[in-house]
Amino acid sequence: MSRAGLEKQPHQVAEMFDAVAERYDRTNTILSGAQDRRWRRHTVRALELLPGQKVLDVAAGTGVSTRALAVTGAWCVATDFSLGMLSATKDPTLPRVAGDALHLPFADATFDTVTISFGLRNVEDPSAALAEFARVTRPGGRLVVCEFSRPRPAPIRWGYRWYLHAVLPRLARRVSSNPEAYTYLQETIDAWPDQPSLARLITRAGWTDVRWRNMTFGVVALHRAVLGEP
Ligand SMILES: C[S@@+](CC[C@H](N)C(=O)[O-])C[C@H]1O[C@@H](n2cnc3c(N)ncnc32)[C@H](O)[C@@H]1O
Repeated sequence: MSRAGLEKQPHQVAEMFDAVAERYDRTNTILSGAQDRRWRRHTVRALELLPGQKVLDVAAGTGVSTRALAVTGAWCVATDFSLGMLSATKDPTLPRVAGDALHLPFADATFDTVTISFGLRNVEDPSAALAEFARVTRPGGRLVVCEFSRPRPAPIRWGYRWYLHAVLPRLARRVSSNPEAYTYLQETIDAWPDQPSLARLITRAGWTDVRWRNMTFGVVALHRAVLGEP
């Protein structure tokens, strides 16, 4: 069993995801009560992709997030630094590139859109990653970040905290190949910035017109932004 700490050392994060890869997609669907599929549909809609557009899905893991995007006809590339996750894809035809969100292996202004789902929270330096996403996006291109966030109504927040701290670890012991990774999940969600704070990080990294919308009462938030013309 392996897990990373809140300092998110890259080799520990990659090893932890290698160890959950085999059952990752199924575990997510079980632990989210199948909400993950809804969140992915909303992410695809927020991206407003057109056929032929070039899209980079960062921290794509098994490519489950990338496959949801590719149905639009956009040309979608999955990148991740966990080779275990990339190899566990259900679609071996999906373009996959091993790469670190902090040093993406792509030239400047390559993509129309960059997106990251449930990945930014795991990156050692999220601000540097957001600036790196801007580097590989063309001027006028878009960013969509789908990430766990802070539910707004207090009763939902309390119920969610109870689920994260009391229920999720027990469920994870039954369904995951690396249950400790789900203690890490709960700790990183607790420590993650709320919606306005993440919007400020995105703006400071060079993106403009930053907006967000909550899904499932803010359990997950979708942040959108545009890269200004020079
Ligand atoms: C929770 S999974 C998300 C996978 C997928 N995007 C999804 O929506 O289910 C987080 C992924 O982030 C990757 N990751 C974390 N830090 C990374 C980094 N610096 N560069 C590339 N991938 C990273 C991990 O390897 C892992 O596959």
